[in-house]
Amino acid sequence: MTDLRRPVLAANWKMNLGPTAATAFLEAFLVRYAPRDDRTVILFPSAIAFGAARSAAAARPDLQFGVQNIHAAEKGAFTGETSAAMAHDAGARYVLVGHSERRHVFGETDAQTAEKVRRAAAHGLAPVLCVGEKIEEREAGQTDAVVVRQLRAALEGLVAEDATALRSLVIAYEPVWAIGTGRTATPQDASSAHRAIRAALGDLAGSGSDEIPILYGGSVTASNASALLQAPGVDGLLVGGASLDPESWAAICNA
Ligand code: PGA
Repeated sequence: MTDLRRPVLAANWKMNLGPTAATAFLEAFLVRYAPRDDRTVILFPSAIAFGAARSAAAARPDLQFGVQNIHAAEKGAFTGETSAAMAHDAGARYVLVGHSERRHVFGETDAQTAEKVRRAAAHGLAPVLCVGEKIEEREAGQTDAVVVRQLRAALEGLVAEDATALRSLVIAYEPVWAIGTGRTATPQDASSAHRAIRAALGDLAGSGSDEIPILYGGSVTASNASALLQAPGVDGLLVGGASLDPESWAAICNA
C-alpha cells in the first residue's frame, strides 16, 4: 500500500441489521474504534436501516456511509428502488455497484453496472465498483481477463463523459468463490489481480487513476485482515460477514 492511498475499510451488511440492530451495533462499535486519521471507514447498511445507522453515528463524522445499491434511472415508477439523488440526500457518499450478488443473483449486466456508475457519479456518490471472477473462470486461467472486462465495461462511459469523477472511484476486487465461503484469496492471489486492475485503470484513465484505491473482499476476518492489507497493491478491504459483529469489525478497522 502506498502512502498516497490510506487504507479503506468498508462494511457491507447486505440484508442484515435492521434499524434497531444497526443502532445497537454502532453503540458497541464506537467504543471499540476511536477516530483515526490514517484510514477511511465506510459502512453500507441496508436502505431501511440507513437513517438509524447514521443517527447512531452522528457524533462521529470520521465514519462514512454508503448505500448497497441504486437504480440506474434518475427517478420514476420503479417500485421498491432507491435513486442516486435520494441516497445522496439521505447522507450517502458511496454506493456499491456491480457486487457479485447483484450480478449473479439479480442478473445485473455489465451495461447496467456502467449506467449505475455514471448515475452515481452524476449525483456525487462515489461508486465502489466490484469486480471478480467465478471459480470456473479462475480455473480456466481467465481471472485477469474477466476483471479487466468488467472494469472497462463499467468505466469507459464515465471516462468519456466525466473524467474528474474517476478521482472519487473505489474498486473492490471480490473473487466470487471467496464471498461468504470462508475460502479467502491468498495475499498473492489478491496482489496478482490487483496488479491487473491497476494496469487496466492506467490504460483507461492515465496517471490520474493512481489514487483510486483497490480493495480486496471475500471472507475477510479479523485474523486474515492484516496479512491481506500488507499484500502489495491491496489498499483496503470490503467485508461482509465479519463486519456484522462490532468486535470483529473494530479489530479489522484497527488492523
Ligand atoms: P464476505 O462478503 O466478507 O461475507 O465474504 C464480502 C462481500 O460480499 O462484500
